[in-house]
Amino acid sequence: MSRKSRAVASPRVVSVMDLRPLARRRLPKAVFDYLDGGADGEVTLRENCRVFDDVTFRPRHAVAVPECDLRTRVLGFDVSFPALLAPVGYSRLMHPDGEAGAARAAGAAGTAYILSTLSGHRLEDVKAASSGPVCYQLYLMGGREASEAVIERARVAGCAALVVTIDTAVAGMRERDFRNGMKELMGDSVLAKIPFLPQVLSRPAWLAGFLLDGGLSKLSNVVIPGKGPMELIDVSAALAAAAVTWNDLRWIRNLWPGLIVIKGVLTADDARRAIDEGAAAIVVSNHGGRQLDGVPASLRALPEIVAAVNGRVEILMDGGIRRGADIIKAICLGARAVLCGRAYAYGLAAAGQAGVARAIQILRTDVERTLKLLGCPSIAMLDRSYIDVPATWG
Ligand code: GLV
Repeated sequence: MSRKSRAVASPRVVSVMDLRPLARRRLPKAVFDYLDGGADGEVTLRENCRVFDDVTFRPRHAVAVPECDLRTRVLGFDVSFPALLAPVGYSRLMHPDGEAGAARAAGAAGTAYILSTLSGHRLEDVKAASSGPVCYQLYLMGGREASEAVIERARVAGCAALVVTIDTAVAGMRERDFRNGMKELMGDSVLAKIPFLPQVLSRPAWLAGFLLDGGLSKLSNVVIPGKGPMELIDVSAALAAAAVTWNDLRWIRNLWPGLIVIKGVLTADDARRAIDEGAAAIVVSNHGGRQLDGVPASLRALPEIVAAVNGRVEILMDGGIRRGADIIKAICLGARAVLCGRAYAYGLAAAGQAGVARAIQILRTDVERTLKLLGCPSIAMLDRSYIDVPATWG
């Protein structure tokens, strides 16, 4: 076992949430809070996790389930268990292994990785790092020409799907980022950075890794024609330039012959619209509570959308997944699979690729144990008969 794997082994790390304090200890506050925080009062951020407690299990006891089949087919590819790695912006700031390390861990575990537009590693390198499927999450940053170029690169590299995020008309109000000086730390003015430097200097191990990695990486997948890759900018500026409309989606469809996934659906109306616009799958998501605070938890929005979609496209969900039992509950409510974001990003921040691998291992073992305790032999056989939901959920 490598030194990094030992650092995240049991009993130090037993559940995914044990990775969070390790991430907090290694990262400067600004980077940790970017990963950990949400928008405004963080009501939706908290609710995403809490809502899983409202759903209870109905196990079938005294059933022998020596072997459980955890495999699931998502977007035409097989995954070893029903969780994919969600796009997480600025992963390379969390650890030099960054997006390539996360993709490598996903591939080794037999699942897929979705690369964010806000990424430091080149998409070709991320694709090559993984033995599994890699999808590209698209924001229209840098304008249409830059987007056209990255869509073509994603096609040539063999990305499995384009994931278009529709909930970023502007960036959500992430108060922690402002208080921590994220904008100043990522800006050009040395003077403006000074008040925020102590948090960086108090994390020498992170700082050494960051400097050896070349410092602030560029947004290497947002290449402005004639200018080169965009500089890394703070997230509010980035997302302000990232909005996607249904009109853009038609334009994207003409450029991308493959599967399109629409991420950020919270209502039946938007789900129907996404299907009409040709989506192969939708992701029920509130962007991890980072955009519009006060929207429902993703799990709570799921039943309305499952009813409206009525089996026409695959439904994925993200938001609040911290345990395998959460994954099972989402599938019982009609999701094909879930995306995990913070659950693996805490691991990445704590120990790079080894931390991601540990997070995936914990979730996978959880899923298998939960299936056995439920008396259910496979993911494919999960349905609402294995859970109870509050009467108000319908
Ligand atoms: C990027 O998409 C973010 O939510 O920070």
